[in-house]
Parts: sequence; structure tokens; C-alpha cells
Amino acid sequence: MEALTVADVGVERFNNDHQRLLFYIIEFNRLAERFHERKPLEEEWDPIDAIFPRLEKYTQEHFQAEEELMRQHKYPLLEQHIEQHQQLIRHLQQLKMDVTNRQAAAITRLESFLLDWLTTHINQDDRQYQGCFQLAETRRISERALFNEMIAADQLQRLIDLSASNVVLLDLRTESEQEEGIIWGSRLFPCDHNLINRQDTEPFRRSFNARFKPDLFDPDLWYVLICRSGPRAAIALEQFQQHNLQACELIGGIQEWLRQALPLVGKEQAR
Ligand SMILES: [Fe+2]
Ligand SMILES: [Fe+2]
Repeated sequence: MEALTVADVGVERFNNDHQRLLFYIIEFNRLAERFHERKPLEEEWDPIDAIFPRLEKYTQEHFQAEEELMRQHKYPLLEQHIEQHQQLIRHLQQLKMDVTNRQAAAITRLESFLLDWLTTHINQDDRQYQGCFQLAETRRISERALFNEMIAADQLQRLIDLSASNVVLLDLRTESEQEEGIIWGSRLFPCDHNLINRQDTEPFRRSFNARFKPDLFDPDLWYVLICRSGPRAAIALEQFQQHNLQACELIGGIQEWLRQALPLVGKEQAR
């Protein structure tokens, strides 16, 4: 049998459930293989019967959890998805009855039903909800960051992973600091800074104010302001807010980013 794979649906808990189903399917296929050529003996039906309680428990818990999350996120294909779950449940009940009636042909039908569950339902239908949930997660992180005027490094990494399209990472450090590495996809906005006496924020303030033109920024986007450890981003944030631009600081700047072992890339990967 070809190696079976299960798609990433973007929700860890559901990915784990799907892996469990994949495990049941592989085990069942191994068991059923010997009955391609012959009928099971009376005592050989027991392990075949045993798959049904497992699958029934799985459908109850997993389908309910998926539907609940879809409802919360107002997933537009909710009704269709519930109907697909119902169909799987009905089909499973029918196969259970056939197995209980000791119809040998039901074993191969159950094998292909399970395979279809994986390749059609999980790898296609379940995958469709990924975008909806990810959009909701992006919105939740963004709203919280804008409200707090700050975003934590791990939350920013999550937004990058989610390819949040309305977020711009703005790197305010000096050119030489940016040379040492930037956060993937940052926009470079290098400003001078007193690198010998970092307490002295005046050179930065002057340089930033000279470069900062509100028209260069889009009020529909929001900006994550990044410096080495925070103070420069805080100065820039005041300006953004004065011009009604949406922005927040990266908490602890690049120092905190590195402390959390998050990756930096070369300047050529700037946007
Ligand atoms: Fe699922
Ligand atoms: Fe589903």
C-alpha cells in the first residue's frame, strides 16, 4: 500500500485527531489484508468488530469539536461540512451492520470507505477550514497587539507564519545593525543612533523625524516597529499615533527576538 499522508489543517488538536484516525486506518488495513482472498473464520471477526466503537467515539468527539469551532468562526461552509459528517456517520453505521451480519465483502468496502474519509474528507474538506481559522487567529493577535501598543516576539512569529498580509514589520535600527540580520520580510527604515551611548536617543529622534513622512505609510496597514531593545520603537510609535497610523512596538526588540531563539535573515530578504 502507498504511504498515506494526512494534510495539515492548521489546528493542532484536529491534526492530532486526524493522525489518530490515520493510525486506525493503517492498523485496520493490515488486519483486513488477509481477507482479500478468503472469508474470515468466526473468531476472526472480533478484531474487525472492534474498530467500530473506536470510530464511533472518534466521530462523536472529533466532529463535534470541528463543528463547534466552525460555528464560533462563522465558517461559511458549516452546513455543508455538517452534512458531510452526517454522511460519514450514516455510511459507517451501514458498514457496521453489514459486518455484524458477517458479510465478508463489507471488509473491503470498509477499507475503501476509510481511505476515502482520509483523502476526501480530511485532505480536502477539512483543509478548507484552515484559511477561515487562520484569518480569525490573525485578527485576534492583531487586535490585541494594537490595543496593547505592543506585540510579543512569539506572537509576531505566529503572524509571520500565518502570512498576515496587513502587517508591516518596520526595522528602525541603523544600517550597520541591520547588516547583522533582520526579521524575515521586514521593511528597512534605517535611522541614525548613538551606538556608543545608547541612552542618548537624540540622534535617533532627529534622524527619524527627518525621514518620517506620514504619506509614506498606509492607514489600512499596521506597523510593527522594531529596534534593538525598545526605546527607539517607543519614540517612533508616538509619531505614528500622532498621525493616526496603526502601529505597535515589538517588545524587547531584536534582543528579545534572539533571546527566544527566533531566526534572523540577511538584508536581501527585506521587503
Ligand atoms: Fe476532521
Ligand atoms: Fe470534518
